[in-house]
Amino acid sequence: MRQQLEAIRTKAAEKLSELKQANDLEQFRVEILGKKGELTQILKQMGKLDPSERPVIGQLANEVRAYIEQKLDAKKAELESYELEKKLEEEKIDITLPGKSMPLGNKHPLETVIDEIKEIFVGMGFEIVEGPEVESDYYNFEALNIPKDHPARDTQDTFYITENILLRTQTSPVQVRVMEKQKPPIRILSPGRVYRSDALDATHSPLFHQIEGLVVDKGITFADLKGTLQTFVKRLYGEDSVVRFRPHHFPFTEPSAEVDVQCFSCHGKGCRLCKNEGWIEILGCGMVHPKVLENCGIDPNEYSGFALGLGLERVAMRRYGIDDIRLFYENDVRFLKQFK
Ligand code: DAH
Repeated sequence: MRQQLEAIRTKAAEKLSELKQANDLEQFRVEILGKKGELTQILKQMGKLDPSERPVIGQLANEVRAYIEQKLDAKKAELESYELEKKLEEEKIDITLPGKSMPLGNKHPLETVIDEIKEIFVGMGFEIVEGPEVESDYYNFEALNIPKDHPARDTQDTFYITENILLRTQTSPVQVRVMEKQKPPIRILSPGRVYRSDALDATHSPLFHQIEGLVVDKGITFADLKGTLQTFVKRLYGEDSVVRFRPHHFPFTEPSAEVDVQCFSCHGKGCRLCKNEGWIEILGCGMVHPKVLENCGIDPNEYSGFALGLGLERVAMRRYGIDDIRLFYENDVRFLKQFK
Protein backbone atom coordinates (compact mmCIF):
# COMPACT_ATOMS: atom_id res chain seq x y z
CA MET A 1 0.00 0.00 0.00
CA ARG A 2 2.83 2.33 0.78
CA GLN A 3 4.17 1.65 -2.70
CA GLN A 4 0.80 2.25 -4.25
CA LEU A 5 0.62 5.63 -2.52
CA GLU A 6 4.10 6.59 -3.63
CA ALA A 7 3.24 5.50 -7.16
CA ILE A 8 0.19 7.74 -7.19
CA ARG A 9 2.26 10.63 -5.96
CA THR A 10 4.79 10.21 -8.78
CA LYS A 11 2.15 9.57 -11.41
CA ALA A 12 0.12 12.57 -10.33
CA ALA A 13 3.13 14.87 -10.47
CA GLU A 14 4.02 13.64 -13.95
CA LYS A 15 0.51 13.91 -15.32
CA LEU A 16 0.08 17.37 -13.87
CA SER A 17 3.20 18.68 -15.50
CA GLU A 18 1.84 17.56 -18.85
CA LEU A 19 -1.53 19.28 -18.53
CA LYS A 20 -1.86 22.37 -20.67
CA GLN A 21 -5.39 23.64 -20.07
CA ALA A 22 -7.09 24.91 -16.95
CA ASN A 23 -10.21 22.97 -17.96
CA ASP A 24 -8.42 19.64 -17.70
CA LEU A 25 -7.44 20.23 -14.08
CA GLU A 26 -10.86 19.51 -12.69
CA GLN A 27 -11.06 16.23 -14.52
CA PHE A 28 -7.65 15.33 -13.14
CA ARG A 29 -8.74 16.20 -9.61
CA VAL A 30 -11.79 13.94 -9.90
CA GLU A 31 -9.72 11.09 -11.29
CA ILE A 32 -7.26 11.10 -8.40
CA LEU A 33 -8.91 12.76 -5.39
CA GLY A 34 -12.63 12.39 -6.16
CA LYS A 35 -14.97 9.93 -4.46
CA LYS A 36 -14.18 7.29 -7.01
CA GLY A 37 -10.65 8.57 -7.55
CA GLU A 38 -7.55 6.45 -7.33
CA LEU A 39 -6.40 7.73 -3.96
CA THR A 40 -9.81 7.27 -2.42
CA GLN A 41 -9.97 3.70 -3.73
CA ILE A 42 -6.72 2.87 -2.02
CA LEU A 43 -7.79 4.41 1.26
CA LYS A 44 -10.90 2.29 1.23
CA GLN A 45 -8.68 -0.70 1.73
CA MET A 46 -7.22 0.67 4.98
CA GLY A 47 -9.53 -1.64 6.89
CA LYS A 48 -7.56 -4.65 5.71
CA LEU A 49 -4.35 -3.34 7.22
CA ASP A 50 -2.81 -4.40 10.44
CA PRO A 51 -4.06 -1.87 13.07
CA SER A 52 -0.47 -0.92 13.94
CA GLU A 53 0.19 0.06 10.35
CA ARG A 54 -2.94 2.16 9.95
CA PRO A 55 -1.69 5.41 11.52
CA VAL A 56 1.52 5.31 9.47
CA ILE A 57 -0.23 4.64 6.19
CA GLY A 58 -2.96 7.11 7.14
CA GLN A 59 -0.41 9.81 7.66
CA LEU A 60 1.32 8.98 4.40
CA ALA A 61 -2.00 9.08 2.57
CA ASN A 62 -2.68 12.54 4.01
CA GLU A 63 0.74 13.69 2.92
CA VAL A 64 0.18 12.40 -0.59
CA ARG A 65 -3.21 14.09 -0.77
CA ALA A 66 -1.78 17.37 0.52
CA TYR A 67 1.10 17.10 -1.91
CA ILE A 68 -1.19 16.51 -4.89
CA GLU A 69 -3.55 19.30 -3.84
CA GLN A 70 -0.72 21.71 -3.50
CA LYS A 71 0.67 20.74 -6.92
CA LEU A 72 -2.79 21.08 -8.36
CA ASP A 73 -3.20 24.59 -6.96
CA ALA A 74 0.20 25.62 -8.23
CA LYS A 75 -0.56 24.24 -11.67
CA LYS A 76 -3.91 25.97 -11.68
CA ALA A 77 -2.33 29.32 -10.88
CA GLU A 78 0.31 28.76 -13.52
CA LEU A 79 -2.18 27.89 -16.23
CA GLU A 80 -4.50 30.72 -15.33
CA SER A 81 -1.81 33.33 -15.48
CA TYR A 82 -0.62 31.84 -18.76
CA GLU A 83 -4.09 32.01 -20.24
CA LEU A 84 -4.61 35.55 -19.02
CA GLU A 85 -1.31 36.53 -20.54
CA LYS A 86 -2.34 34.94 -23.83
CA LYS A 87 -5.70 36.68 -23.80
CA LEU A 88 -4.13 40.05 -23.11
CA GLU A 89 -1.71 39.48 -25.92
CA GLU A 90 -4.49 38.59 -28.34
CA GLU A 91 -6.70 41.49 -27.36
CA LYS A 92 -4.01 44.08 -27.48
CA ILE A 93 -5.31 47.30 -29.05
CA ASP A 94 -3.01 49.42 -31.10
CA ILE A 95 -4.03 52.88 -29.96
CA THR A 96 -1.75 54.49 -32.50
CA LEU A 97 -4.02 53.36 -35.36
CA PRO A 98 -6.04 56.24 -36.82
CA GLY A 99 -9.78 55.99 -35.95
CA LYS A 100 -12.60 55.57 -38.45
CA SER A 101 -14.50 58.84 -38.60
CA MET A 102 -18.29 58.64 -38.51
CA PRO A 103 -20.01 60.90 -41.03
CA LEU A 104 -22.19 63.41 -39.15
CA GLY A 105 -25.70 64.02 -40.43
CA ASN A 106 -27.40 67.38 -40.43
CA LYS A 107 -30.89 68.81 -40.17
CA HIS A 108 -33.20 68.64 -43.14
CA PRO A 109 -33.65 72.16 -44.60
CA LEU A 110 -37.41 72.00 -43.91
CA GLU A 111 -36.75 71.11 -40.30
CA THR A 112 -34.33 74.03 -39.99
CA VAL A 113 -36.98 76.45 -41.27
CA ILE A 114 -39.69 74.94 -39.02
CA ASP A 115 -37.42 75.30 -35.99
CA GLU A 116 -36.58 78.87 -36.85
CA ILE A 117 -40.25 79.86 -37.26
CA LYS A 118 -41.22 78.04 -34.07
CA GLU A 119 -38.54 79.92 -32.17
CA ILE A 120 -39.80 83.29 -33.42
CA PHE A 121 -43.38 82.54 -32.33
CA VAL A 122 -42.37 80.93 -29.04
CA GLY A 123 -40.50 84.19 -28.39
CA MET A 124 -43.87 85.97 -28.74
CA GLY A 125 -45.53 83.64 -26.22
CA PHE A 126 -46.99 81.01 -28.56
CA GLU A 127 -47.28 77.38 -27.57
CA ILE A 128 -46.49 74.56 -30.05
CA VAL A 129 -49.24 71.97 -30.57
CA GLU A 130 -49.76 69.13 -33.01
CA GLY A 131 -52.83 67.59 -34.58
CA PRO A 132 -53.61 64.37 -36.45
CA GLU A 133 -52.84 63.99 -40.16
CA VAL A 134 -55.80 61.65 -40.64
CA GLU A 135 -58.78 63.88 -39.99
CA SER A 136 -62.52 63.85 -40.17
CA ASP A 137 -64.47 65.92 -42.66
CA TYR A 138 -65.83 67.84 -39.70
CA TYR A 139 -62.51 69.21 -38.45
CA ASN A 140 -60.93 69.71 -41.86
CA PHE A 141 -63.94 71.44 -43.46
CA GLU A 142 -67.28 71.61 -41.69
CA ALA A 143 -66.20 73.24 -38.41
CA LEU A 144 -64.07 75.69 -40.40
CA ASN A 145 -67.17 77.02 -42.11
CA ILE A 146 -66.62 75.03 -45.32
CA PRO A 147 -69.89 73.09 -45.79
CA LYS A 148 -70.22 70.18 -48.22
CA ASP A 149 -71.24 72.24 -51.24
CA HIS A 150 -68.74 75.06 -50.65
CA PRO A 151 -66.59 75.90 -53.69
CA ALA A 152 -63.48 76.13 -51.48
CA ARG A 153 -63.53 72.35 -51.30
CA ASP A 154 -62.71 72.20 -55.01
CA THR A 155 -59.49 74.11 -54.51
CA GLN A 156 -58.25 71.54 -52.02
CA ASP A 157 -58.13 68.24 -53.86
CA THR A 158 -58.70 65.91 -51.00
CA PHE A 159 -57.49 62.38 -50.39
CA TYR A 160 -60.57 60.71 -48.93
CA ILE A 161 -60.20 57.50 -46.94
CA THR A 162 -63.95 57.08 -46.39
CA GLU A 163 -66.73 59.56 -46.97
CA ASN A 164 -65.97 61.22 -43.65
CA ILE A 165 -62.30 60.42 -43.05
CA LEU A 166 -59.56 62.10 -45.03
CA LEU A 167 -55.93 63.19 -45.02
CA ARG A 168 -55.99 66.78 -43.80
CA THR A 169 -55.59 69.30 -46.61
CA GLN A 170 -54.51 72.07 -44.24
CA THR A 171 -53.31 72.55 -40.66
CA SER A 172 -56.39 74.68 -39.89
CA PRO A 173 -58.31 71.76 -38.25
CA VAL A 174 -55.84 72.05 -35.36
CA GLN A 175 -57.45 75.45 -34.60
CA VAL A 176 -60.78 73.72 -34.02
CA ARG A 177 -59.28 70.95 -31.91
CA VAL A 178 -57.52 73.47 -29.67
CA MET A 179 -60.51 75.79 -29.29
CA GLU A 180 -62.78 72.86 -28.40
CA LYS A 181 -60.51 71.85 -25.54
CA GLN A 182 -58.92 75.06 -24.36
CA LYS A 183 -60.61 78.22 -23.19
CA PRO A 184 -59.10 81.60 -24.19
CA PRO A 185 -56.55 83.08 -23.92
CA ILE A 186 -55.18 80.86 -26.71
CA ARG A 187 -51.90 81.44 -28.50
CA ILE A 188 -50.76 78.40 -30.48
CA LEU A 189 -48.58 77.48 -33.43
CA SER A 190 -49.00 74.14 -35.17
CA PRO A 191 -46.58 72.86 -37.81
CA GLY A 192 -47.24 69.66 -39.72
CA ARG A 193 -47.78 67.68 -42.89
CA VAL A 194 -50.77 68.24 -45.15
CA TYR A 195 -51.96 66.36 -48.24
CA ARG A 196 -53.60 67.24 -51.51
CA SER A 197 -54.03 65.07 -54.55
CA ASP A 198 -51.95 67.31 -56.77
CA ALA A 199 -49.72 65.84 -59.47
CA LEU A 200 -46.06 65.98 -58.49
CA ASP A 201 -44.04 68.59 -60.37
CA ALA A 202 -41.39 71.20 -59.61
CA THR A 203 -43.77 73.35 -57.55
CA HIS A 204 -46.46 70.87 -56.41
CA SER A 205 -46.33 67.88 -54.16
CA PRO A 206 -49.18 65.74 -52.80
CA LEU A 207 -47.50 66.05 -49.40
CA PHE A 208 -46.25 69.36 -48.08
CA HIS A 209 -46.01 71.29 -44.83
CA GLN A 210 -47.92 74.15 -43.30
CA ILE A 211 -47.71 76.12 -40.10
CA GLU A 212 -50.94 77.27 -38.51
CA GLY A 213 -51.14 80.07 -35.98
CA LEU A 214 -54.09 81.01 -33.78
CA VAL A 215 -54.67 83.67 -31.15
CA VAL A 216 -57.98 84.04 -29.30
CA ASP A 217 -58.66 86.37 -26.40
CA LYS A 218 -60.82 89.29 -25.36
CA GLY A 219 -60.30 92.37 -27.55
CA ILE A 220 -58.02 90.88 -30.23
CA THR A 221 -58.09 93.06 -33.36
CA PHE A 222 -56.64 93.14 -36.85
CA ALA A 223 -53.94 95.45 -35.46
CA ASP A 224 -52.70 92.54 -33.30
CA LEU A 225 -52.55 90.34 -36.38
CA LYS A 226 -50.62 92.99 -38.31
CA GLY A 227 -48.18 93.63 -35.51
CA THR A 228 -47.55 89.92 -34.96
CA LEU A 229 -46.95 89.26 -38.64
CA GLN A 230 -44.71 92.29 -39.09
CA THR A 231 -42.57 91.14 -36.18
CA PHE A 232 -42.51 87.62 -37.58
CA VAL A 233 -41.45 88.68 -41.07
CA LYS A 234 -38.74 91.02 -39.78
CA ARG A 235 -37.30 88.26 -37.60
CA LEU A 236 -37.43 85.75 -40.46
CA TYR A 237 -36.25 87.91 -43.35
CA GLY A 238 -34.43 90.78 -41.64
CA GLU A 239 -35.32 94.09 -39.98
CA ASP A 240 -35.56 95.99 -43.28
CA SER A 241 -38.21 93.71 -44.81
CA VAL A 242 -41.41 95.33 -46.01
CA VAL A 243 -44.79 93.65 -45.56
CA ARG A 244 -48.03 94.20 -47.48
CA PHE A 245 -51.56 92.99 -46.68
CA ARG A 246 -53.88 92.23 -49.61
CA PRO A 247 -57.62 91.57 -49.13
CA HIS A 248 -58.50 87.94 -49.78
CA HIS A 249 -61.16 85.39 -48.93
CA PHE A 250 -61.02 82.36 -46.67
CA PRO A 251 -64.22 80.75 -45.37
CA PHE A 252 -62.87 80.52 -41.80
CA THR A 253 -61.71 84.15 -41.44
CA GLU A 254 -63.48 87.49 -41.87
CA PRO A 255 -61.93 89.77 -42.92
CA SER A 256 -59.16 87.77 -44.61
CA ALA A 257 -55.89 88.80 -46.17
CA GLU A 258 -52.86 87.47 -47.93
CA VAL A 259 -49.49 88.74 -46.85
CA ASP A 260 -46.66 89.55 -49.23
CA VAL A 261 -43.09 90.50 -48.45
CA GLN A 262 -41.28 92.87 -50.71
CA CYS A 263 -38.86 90.83 -52.82
CA PHE A 264 -35.58 90.76 -50.93
CA SER A 265 -33.68 90.17 -54.11
CA CYS A 266 -34.80 93.20 -56.17
CA HIS A 267 -36.45 95.27 -53.39
CA GLY A 268 -39.68 95.69 -55.30
CA LYS A 269 -38.27 96.41 -58.76
CA GLY A 270 -39.18 93.01 -60.19
CA CYS A 271 -36.88 90.08 -60.90
CA ARG A 272 -36.86 86.36 -61.65
CA LEU A 273 -37.34 85.39 -58.00
CA CYS A 274 -40.57 87.39 -57.59
CA LYS A 275 -41.69 86.76 -61.19
CA ASN A 276 -41.37 90.50 -61.88
CA GLU A 277 -44.01 91.34 -59.31
CA GLY A 278 -41.74 92.93 -56.73
CA TRP A 279 -43.67 91.06 -54.00
CA ILE A 280 -43.71 87.49 -52.78
CA GLU A 281 -46.80 85.97 -51.19
CA ILE A 282 -45.99 84.17 -47.96
CA LEU A 283 -49.16 83.42 -46.03
CA GLY A 284 -52.91 83.64 -45.58
CA CYS A 285 -54.52 85.11 -42.50
CA GLY A 286 -57.54 86.86 -41.05
CA MET A 287 -59.82 87.38 -38.08
CA VAL A 288 -61.34 84.07 -36.95
CA HIS A 289 -64.89 83.86 -38.37
CA PRO A 290 -67.55 84.19 -35.61
CA LYS A 291 -69.13 80.95 -36.88
CA VAL A 292 -65.89 79.06 -36.30
CA LEU A 293 -65.67 80.38 -32.74
CA GLU A 294 -69.28 79.36 -32.18
CA ASN A 295 -68.67 75.88 -33.60
CA CYS A 296 -66.00 75.45 -30.94
CA GLY A 297 -68.14 76.69 -28.07
CA ILE A 298 -66.50 80.11 -27.78
CA ASP A 299 -68.81 83.13 -27.57
CA PRO A 300 -67.95 85.54 -30.46
CA ASN A 301 -69.54 88.41 -28.54
CA GLU A 302 -67.00 87.98 -25.79
CA TYR A 303 -63.93 86.81 -27.67
CA SER A 304 -62.20 87.46 -30.97
CA GLY A 305 -59.09 86.07 -32.58
CA PHE A 306 -56.82 85.92 -35.60
CA ALA A 307 -55.37 83.00 -37.53
CA LEU A 308 -52.67 82.48 -40.09
CA GLY A 309 -51.49 79.70 -42.35
CA LEU A 310 -48.14 79.51 -44.02
CA GLY A 311 -46.68 77.09 -46.59
CA LEU A 312 -43.29 75.94 -45.41
CA GLU A 313 -41.79 74.60 -48.61
CA ARG A 314 -42.13 77.99 -50.26
CA VAL A 315 -40.29 79.70 -47.44
CA ALA A 316 -37.50 77.12 -47.52
CA MET A 317 -37.23 77.17 -51.33
CA ARG A 318 -36.81 80.91 -51.35
CA ARG A 319 -34.44 80.87 -48.42
CA TYR A 320 -32.07 78.36 -50.00
CA GLY A 321 -32.68 79.05 -53.69
CA ILE A 322 -34.19 75.59 -54.25
CA ASP A 323 -36.14 75.48 -57.51
CA ASP A 324 -37.70 72.01 -57.31
CA ILE A 325 -39.96 70.97 -54.43
CA ARG A 326 -39.31 67.26 -55.10
CA LEU A 327 -35.76 67.63 -53.78
CA PHE A 328 -37.13 67.91 -50.23
CA TYR A 329 -38.57 64.42 -50.24
CA GLU A 330 -36.06 62.38 -52.21
CA ASN A 331 -33.55 62.15 -49.36
CA ASP A 332 -30.62 62.32 -51.74
CA VAL A 333 -27.67 62.90 -49.42
CA ARG A 334 -25.88 64.94 -52.08
CA PHE A 335 -28.73 67.45 -51.76
CA LEU A 336 -29.13 67.23 -47.99
CA LYS A 337 -25.40 67.63 -47.32
CA GLN A 338 -25.49 71.16 -48.67
CA PHE A 339 -27.44 72.45 -45.68
CA LYS A 340 -24.87 72.03 -42.93
N1 DAH B 1 -55.71 76.85 -44.53
C1 DAH B 1 -55.38 77.79 -45.59
C2 DAH B 1 -54.88 77.03 -46.79
O1 DAH B 1 -54.47 75.91 -46.67
C3 DAH B 1 -54.33 78.75 -45.11
C4 DAH B 1 -54.86 79.69 -44.11
C5 DAH B 1 -55.37 80.94 -44.50
C6 DAH B 1 -54.87 79.38 -42.77
C7 DAH B 1 -55.88 81.82 -43.60
C8 DAH B 1 -55.38 80.29 -41.83
C9 DAH B 1 -55.89 81.51 -42.28
O2 DAH B 1 -55.40 80.02 -40.54
O3 DAH B 1 -56.35 82.37 -41.36
O4 DAH B 1 -54.89 77.55 -47.86
